[in-house]
Amino acid sequence: MNLKPRIFHKLMLLLMLPLFLSCGGSAKKQYVIGVSQCSEDVWREKLNEELRIAALYYNNVDLRIKSAYDDVKLQTEQINSFVDEGVDLLIVAPGQVTISPAIDRAYEKGIPVIIFDRRTRSDKYTAYIGADNKEIGSSMAEYLAGALPGGGRILELCGLSTSSPAIERSEGFDSVVATRPGLEIVAQAHADWTEEGAFRVMDSLLSKSHPQFDCLFAHNDRMAMGARRAAAKHGLDINSIQFCGIDAMPQNGGGMRLVTDGTLFASYIYPTRGDEVIQLAMNILTKKDYKRENQLSSALVTRDNAR
Ligand code: FRU
Repeated sequence: MNLKPRIFHKLMLLLMLPLFLSCGGSAKKQYVIGVSQCSEDVWREKLNEELRIAALYYNNVDLRIKSAYDDVKLQTEQINSFVDEGVDLLIVAPGQVTISPAIDRAYEKGIPVIIFDRRTRSDKYTAYIGADNKEIGSSMAEYLAGALPGGGRILELCGLSTSSPAIERSEGFDSVVATRPGLEIVAQAHADWTEEGAFRVMDSLLSKSHPQFDCLFAHNDRMAMGARRAAAKHGLDINSIQFCGIDAMPQNGGGMRLVTDGTLFASYIYPTRGDEVIQLAMNILTKKDYKRENQLSSALVTRDNAR
């Protein structure tokens, strides 16, 4: 019997073993990345999907995503449990600026931390990635200054008052409005980033005596739509009010389409870019060069460019 082919076969199998192991779902991955999402909605679903696809591409990443459903206590617990599980890197979208103690603890234990989309007031993080929310607010105000030639009495519907994008979007928007004689913020209210929350806030605002407004700027498209529904309920002429939001999601019912069909007057792309978030994570994990502050580009969406 000729033994050579059999030995050759065995050798080949041995050489290919690592390949089989790396393809199998149960194979131990080299890097464990924990993702702590502050909430769950279409914007975050899109982002999570992009993170999963990007992680698959690397093939050696075990990506674990947890959502805190807007509950600060739950997000704190989830971050702590990621730390206790011994993840190699943590990606956090902190729901509110007060989440910092749990993140600080992770960072102090030597776990690299990427903060994305929202911020805390703490400096204890490895890198940040997200759009410039102040710039988004100021660009929207610049646009309205030109697009509402007759001037505008604006109702500003801000996101959750303790979350950083709401604070920064207001800073940017309000500072530009203050310099434009034609624009005025006649009322300001806060909701919780959800359509239903915005509906309730507007419903109660419109139930009492309130200033007239001809433009409503909500800090996201979902809230703009909730506010629009409340305005219709109270018999306001929704076609003569310019409703603006932020996010400009491309899917059906998303802000991009709502601007195209004229339901919204303007929106602003708030980029998800899960691919870039994972790329940054991998650069940190594999000790490649990376920047500490990473700004994602975004853009104003109006009827002229939405298509
Ligand atoms: C999604 C979201 C977006 C908003 C962003 C701010 O959870 O509410 O609509 O632009 O968060 O962080």
